[in-house]
Amino acid sequence: MSQVVQHPRKLPQQLRDLYAPVQLELDDVEDILRDQLTSDHSFVDRLVKHGFRLGGKRMRPALVLLSGKACGELCREHLILAATVEMIHTATLIHDDVLDEAAIRRHLDTVNARWDNETSILLGDYLFSKAICMVSSLDSSFANGAVSEATRAMCEGELRQVQSRGNFDLGEGEYLDIIADKTAALCSCCCRLGSHFAGAEPELCETLARFGRYLGIAFQIVDDLLDVLGDEHTTGKSLGTDLLKQKATLPLIRLLSQLDGRQRPDVLAILSRSDNHKPEALRPWFADSGALSYARSKADWFAGRAIDELDSVPDVPAREALRQLVDFVISRKQ
Ligand code: IPE
Ligand code: IPE
Ligand code: MG
Ligand code: MG
Ligand code: MG
Repeated sequence: MSQVVQHPRKLPQQLRDLYAPVQLELDDVEDILRDQLTSDHSFVDRLVKHGFRLGGKRMRPALVLLSGKACGELCREHLILAATVEMIHTATLIHDDVLDEAAIRRHLDTVNARWDNETSILLGDYLFSKAICMVSSLDSSFANGAVSEATRAMCEGELRQVQSRGNFDLGEGEYLDIIADKTAALCSCCCRLGSHFAGAEPELCETLARFGRYLGIAFQIVDDLLDVLGDEHTTGKSLGTDLLKQKATLPLIRLLSQLDGRQRPDVLAILSRSDNHKPEALRPWFADSGALSYARSKADWFAGRAIDELDSVPDVPAREALRQLVDFVISRKQ
């Protein structure tokens, strides 16, 4: 990707429309993030601002707010928690770009590309620490517990993924477990927090937590499809890094499971190449095996489970927004 956009980007109109029931609160969250993300040290100040350009979809804060609004009234805690989860999410992206050796994120060069890996690790830790300060300020053991549990799962998921690099025998079940931890745990946490702080009964909180988990799994399957098929100018991030880093994601797991004993060595030979052209070399294999449409059907299945959970959520505009968010997640190009 040659052209890098240097100014903050606005949310796409489709998401602005979708987030309409909580737009005012999302603006407040943006203000909290802006206030929090400053440092007296000019270098640190520059780094945190770089990490936070408005290029992200702000899906996690929206999940906190929409889940809250679907169950009752929003309060100050929702705003702080929405800012907290976005900070955690951004910290994990900064670390993830080191793991994946990615060069572009949110239409900007990554912290590791513009500075270096050491700076990225420390900046990610700095944002995690800021997030912990924010959630602790609420003096709520429920919020502290939910956030700590989600970050534990995320780290465990990323660690298992690192450990399984180059393991082309990884099964679909293990892949789903990994993405449930690394991606869906935070989405689930967002929905649990949003509903809890709106005063929802524990059963409804669990329903929304399951909604978030299914949505998160669908989200990551689509992300893994975008890594193979997507366009960097649209996603605003480096693609193709899964194959480059020998990560077995669902499209590849399915492709490998469809090969006969004669074909498998050919595909494994492509995967072990050290060049940057693995995606092109694998494209005909993906097309012939139906692996991409299989992965898409799995994403659709998890999206369907997420929508089913909404049946027991009060029928208010925020619930409709959550339903539309599921549609966005499975059809997204960014
Ligand atoms: C990217 O998340 C990381 C994954 C879990 C796949 P998003 O696609 O939500 O990233 P932003 O926040 O919009 O940049
Ligand atoms: C990372 O998954 C998910 C996280 C929770 C950080 P990816 O590595 O696929 O995310 P992208 O594609 O770089 O955004
Ligand atoms: Mg990545
Ligand atoms: Mg990654
Ligand atoms: Mg990805």
